[in-house]
Amino acid sequence: MEDRTPRKEDLEPIERASVDELRALQLTRLRWSLQHAYENVPAYRALFASAGVHPSDLRSLSDLARFPFTHKATLRENYPFDMFAVPRTSIARIHASSGTTGRPTVVGYTLADVRTWARLMARSIRASGGRPGDRVHIAYGYGLFTGGLGAHYGAEELGCTVIPVSGGMTPRQVMLIQDFQPDIIMVTPSYMLAIVDEMRRQGVDPRTTSLRVGIFGAEPWTQDLRQEIEETLDMHAVDVYGLSEVMGPGVANECVETKDGPHIWEDHFYPEIVDPVTGQVLPDGSYGELVFTSLTKEAMPVVRYRTRDLTRLLPGTARPMRRMEKITGRTDDMIILRGVNLFPTQIEELILRTPALAPHFQCVLTRAGRLDALTVKVERRPSVSATDAASAGHDLATSIKNTIGVSVTIEVIEPDGVERSMGKMKRIVDQR
Ligand code: DLL
Repeated sequence: MEDRTPRKEDLEPIERASVDELRALQLTRLRWSLQHAYENVPAYRALFASAGVHPSDLRSLSDLARFPFTHKATLRENYPFDMFAVPRTSIARIHASSGTTGRPTVVGYTLADVRTWARLMARSIRASGGRPGDRVHIAYGYGLFTGGLGAHYGAEELGCTVIPVSGGMTPRQVMLIQDFQPDIIMVTPSYMLAIVDEMRRQGVDPRTTSLRVGIFGAEPWTQDLRQEIEETLDMHAVDVYGLSEVMGPGVANECVETKDGPHIWEDHFYPEIVDPVTGQVLPDGSYGELVFTSLTKEAMPVVRYRTRDLTRLLPGTARPMRRMEKITGRTDDMIILRGVNLFPTQIEELILRTPALAPHFQCVLTRAGRLDALTVKVERRPSVSATDAASAGHDLATSIKNTIGVSVTIEVIEPDGVERSMGKMKRIVDQR
């Protein structure tokens, strides 16, 4: 793989600052952000009042723990625009995250917010190994989803040539990769796999394309999948993290030179890890739920927003900002099976260690009587016979039993048997 480490002199000053400089900047910005939310959003004023705190109570970063949490429900209760802290006429952009049920979560941006987002996304693409002049194929969906437009503005900001393909029409994705020769692809990891299948169908060897870097996010994916993608496509696979409520993609991004978990762009977002049940702040290094407070957002500041994403904070390596470990899953994606907690990412890891099986799978939950059961539907690799794949399925059940500690049914299905998604893959089908 080509060395894509950015030159030190191309990084922003804050990416080379000391941790002390970063903390000082955060404290100044945090004071502003809490005050801004308090003064301009009635919902925050009420939340602060019932917690008995005022923005002036923040004297150090650790005082943030005294402030109330906000949840997805807080945003839903203030649907559509009541979380905005600026007059409606100052809102330059609206996005929304679909959610599976009910009203979407609406987020707004001022023009300055859109600019900040573009710069952070440009920083993210640079950290991933992108350079001015690179051609960037964007297969994240465009529209209310933040993926497409977020990536788009960032790639433009970095000085790249943007190819705004959006998701879907997989044969055409392959044609455009062949014809336009992009250096970078930005797409969900599950849809990348669907594109790879289509390449093979068209007789294109995935290792021979022009792609050098893939920037993957919007859903959990494992180290094993990184290895699979890097080997299959002979390119770097780098993790981008973000969520609409906090901004969109580019809240955190991995550095191509270390690939050791996304660095959180802490000059704009203050992270905490809390116990998902008690809400108590946990020390760096402990696993828990990721919580964010925005430091510079104008249109929609968020205070201690509960992401439901499970990870832990680690010290900075390639940058002074702290890293988050690759996400294991979301609190709402956790499957509790006869008392054992498990995440689809754990299943993905074990499938990828079973060479006869393809990384296309779905977890189907059913209930027989009072017992919950999990069936993992997983495709065989096209090159493997059905008999060999069935015996690999048997081995997979054993390794799930041995490592996770629970019995599941493995159903090995034909290639293409799992419905492809052009964006986020639905890993859990709950038929209970
Ligand atoms: O998915 C923003 C995004 C777009 C990020 C493109 C990266 C690339 P939402 O639709 O609001 O926003 O969903 C946010 O997706 O809370 C995580 O659960 C999950 N997620 C996002 N990035 C990652 C990642 C976008 N790199 C939710 N790894 C988040 C694991 C991720 N999960």
